[in-house]
Amino acid sequence: MSVLPSAGSGPRLSDPELEAREIASARSIRSVYVYEAPVRLWHWVNALAIVVLCVTGYFIGSPLPTQPGEASANFLMGYIRFAHFAAAYVFAVGLLARIYWALVGNHHARELFTVPVFSRDYWRECLGMLRWYAFVSDRPGRYVGHNPLARFAMFFVFVLNAVFLMFTGFAMYGEGLGAGSWADRLFGWVIPVLGQSQDVHTWHHLSMWVMVAFVIVHVYAAIREDIMGRQSIVSTMVSGHRTFKD
Ligand code: HEM
Ligand code: HEM
Repeated sequence: MSVLPSAGSGPRLSDPELEAREIASARSIRSVYVYEAPVRLWHWVNALAIVVLCVTGYFIGSPLPTQPGEASANFLMGYIRFAHFAAAYVFAVGLLARIYWALVGNHHARELFTVPVFSRDYWRECLGMLRWYAFVSDRPGRYVGHNPLARFAMFFVFVLNAVFLMFTGFAMYGEGLGAGSWADRLFGWVIPVLGQSQDVHTWHHLSMWVMVAFVIVHVYAAIREDIMGRQSIVSTMVSGHRTFKD
């Protein structure tokens, strides 16, 4: 908005004629509706659940010092574990709902689970994006859905790791619920496959750091692409619309 001087009546905030001319000569922006509401809702709920899971999971693995007073007067670790399990249910139900939406949603909803690994062009485009992220090339590709490299990371790092966290998490949860419980019956087999209970803890814990690394790179890439790339990124996960800058 321009602040234009005008005769007599002090500064005017805008000049409608000038603004009309500016609008007439402006570029029109094209946008495509990419991420439907359930995908966007899932993304942000899932992100919140994962933050809670990482923080509480970290404290389950590295507990806080013993609290002063009677043991029966303190339930700190209990609350931390409760928050972990509550967020775990949100995370697991969310993942199942997201898989359902991949089946019934638009074709972009399927990109998270399908990577065209047998296509030579796909790998060439991945290399192109890698060069762009490494500041080697000066022009990235233009994509309506996820870019090819994001697609690789989202499936091979996020999805597979999320499923692993779910299986190992519910296997340990089954130990708490007891032999014969639903979690034990569905996921109990994971414990002997990985060795014994402590191995499941260690693998589950290691997976957390894989998830933390994914989130750091993902948020960096999303913000960097928003600023330097050829299309909108962060706002796309809010409104659903991808707008193109050129
Ligand atoms: C993003 C997902 C998740 C992350 C980052 C995460 C992280 C962690 C970490 C770091 C620990 C501590 C492991 C240790 O050092 O002993 C832990 C423990 C545990 N997690 Fe998760 N977790 C996730 C999902 C889940 C899910 C889906 C469940 C299913 C119920 C779950 C259930 C458990 C259980 C039962 C424990 C052991 C609690 C205890 O021994 O007191 N987690 N989690
Ligand atoms: C725990 C944190 C997060 C996790 C686990 C996560 C995970 C994901 C996943 C799995 C997708 C693919 C969505 C789909 O196809 O259904 C995605 C997309 C996206 N995320 Fe996140 N996300 C997190 C946090 C964030 C944050 C904080 C931002 C904002 C800066 C963000 C911005 C985006 C954007 C813009 C996309 C769409 C990318 C594109 O259009 O190609 N995410 N995220």
